[in-house]
Amino acid sequence: MAMNRWEEVRRRHAAAEAGGGEERRKRQHAEGKLSARERIELLLDEGTFEELDKLVRHRCRDFGMEEQVIDGDGFVTGYGYIHGRLAYVFAQDFTVFGGSLSETNAKKICKVMDLALKNGAPVIGLNDSGGARIQEGVLSLGGYADIFLRNTLASGVVPQISAILGPCAGGAVYSPAITDFVFMVDQTSYMFVTGPDVIKTVTHEDVTKEQLGGAMTHSSRSGVAQFMAGDDRHCLQMIRRLMSFLPQNNRDLPPRVECSDPVDRMDEALDTLVPEESNVPYDIKDIIHRIVDDGDFLEVHEHYAKNIVVGFSRMDGRTVGIVANQPAHLAGCLDIDSSTKGARFVRFCDAFSIPILTLEDVPGFLPGTAQEFGGIIRHGAKLLYAYAEATVPKITVIARKAYGGAYCVMGSKHLRCDINFAYPAAEIAVMGAEGAANIIYRRELNGASDKQALLAEKVAEYKDRFANPFIAAEHGFVDDVIEPRETRPRVIQALRMLENKVDSSPKKKHGNIPL
Ligand code: HXC
Repeated sequence: MAMNRWEEVRRRHAAAEAGGGEERRKRQHAEGKLSARERIELLLDEGTFEELDKLVRHRCRDFGMEEQVIDGDGFVTGYGYIHGRLAYVFAQDFTVFGGSLSETNAKKICKVMDLALKNGAPVIGLNDSGGARIQEGVLSLGGYADIFLRNTLASGVVPQISAILGPCAGGAVYSPAITDFVFMVDQTSYMFVTGPDVIKTVTHEDVTKEQLGGAMTHSSRSGVAQFMAGDDRHCLQMIRRLMSFLPQNNRDLPPRVECSDPVDRMDEALDTLVPEESNVPYDIKDIIHRIVDDGDFLEVHEHYAKNIVVGFSRMDGRTVGIVANQPAHLAGCLDIDSSTKGARFVRFCDAFSIPILTLEDVPGFLPGTAQEFGGIIRHGAKLLYAYAEATVPKITVIARKAYGGAYCVMGSKHLRCDINFAYPAAEIAVMGAEGAANIIYRRELNGASDKQALLAEKVAEYKDRFANPFIAAEHGFVDDVIEPRETRPRVIQALRMLENKVDSSPKKKHGNIPL
């Protein structure tokens, strides 16, 4: 009797591991995709996966489903370790009913999410699914909603990461959408609310799956995905790398690593990196790479709204979130997309105790009807709101331009930034000298015999008077004007000083960020 039970256990375990069978697994591989179990193996530290609910079975008795019962019901769920730290994971197995979500495998996901919340560890979802299990109807829809609720409750409590490694369509996209970071794989993954066929019927547009919801579309156009990988293996490695920067939960601190890059390292190249001419572009990432530990920077949303750069690095061995205007794109102007991109990143850092370093070189908000009609007022306000509400250590370095409303928004002292530095060439003013001179001297200019000469004179005068860091420094709006070469040591000293920072906001249920 006892032996039979053992055999039964082995048989059921083997059946769960076999999933939808060899043929379907071969098809998965032929499409360039790994199986659910292979993905989990690559994601977690070797041999650390502990599976839960391997013996769960669906309860559907319609459409002949009673004849098709697979142990585990197609989702692989459990926990393991990444860089020695606990993580919960679920992976949809496309070989079992197309990875579709049943009542029972939704419960499996909810179980690991509940454990993650109670035990304060991240949840990583590996998605590859045909959506709601059609045979189960509303029971499957209910399962989705149960997951959405947990995604929302876990938001800001434990990091949540979604990898899209196959189809993800219909309402199923909303679970990844609530999570903190979405990874997609080029050519093998797609996300959309309604697919190309429905679109053709309703709007008569012709669009392929890849154009509509492929990895590049969501990484560069819609901004739904923060990371894009070449294949499954690459994607899982990228997730491991991201995890190395993050704390386990909102009460934990980000991991601190040994730092071999000298904290007092000066870099003379920084002194000439920012062009003196204020309209000459340069790559802000060159500054980032030169000041962070070992030049290591994990860029988030690399292909989206390139006029702002966000991502994770370490300084003095501790994680910092970097937000930087990018003069190499749109002159570093803030627009709708860059504002929401920046705001989302700042809020993530604030939720998870990651100090924010802002590198500022911004001529202002992007002018134009497209921006105004698109709601730049509302979207720009998100970035302002995110900076203002953040209570983590905040340090800003003004590398060159800090004009107008963008000065206020980009981590200014007035939004309770802790330490603000400016380079000697910084221009902190209401607007550019040319525009300012044209407005305040309009009458004189109109009456002048040599308008150009007078304008040049007035521009020079305005530049001299206002387009510098000293007035802001005299008022304490910047704490010091520093030489670019000393950026790394000065920022690290500020980070050390702010290590135990505590700040709070008025008690409220939650704020009303201008969505
Ligand atoms: C049950 C499903 C399934 C589903 C696929 N399968 N989707 N079984 N429920 N939703 C099964 C197929 O019958 C097939 O079984 C196997 O999975 C593989 O599917 P194929 O079609 O052969 O694969 P492929 O050609 O790669 O196409 C993949 C696909 C397609 C594009 C995902 O299967 C598809 O369109 N599926 C339906 C998608 C859908 O409409 N889902 C419901 C959306 S509504 P066999 O036995 O042949 O291997 C929704 C609402 C969510 O999800 C709401 C949340 C709030």
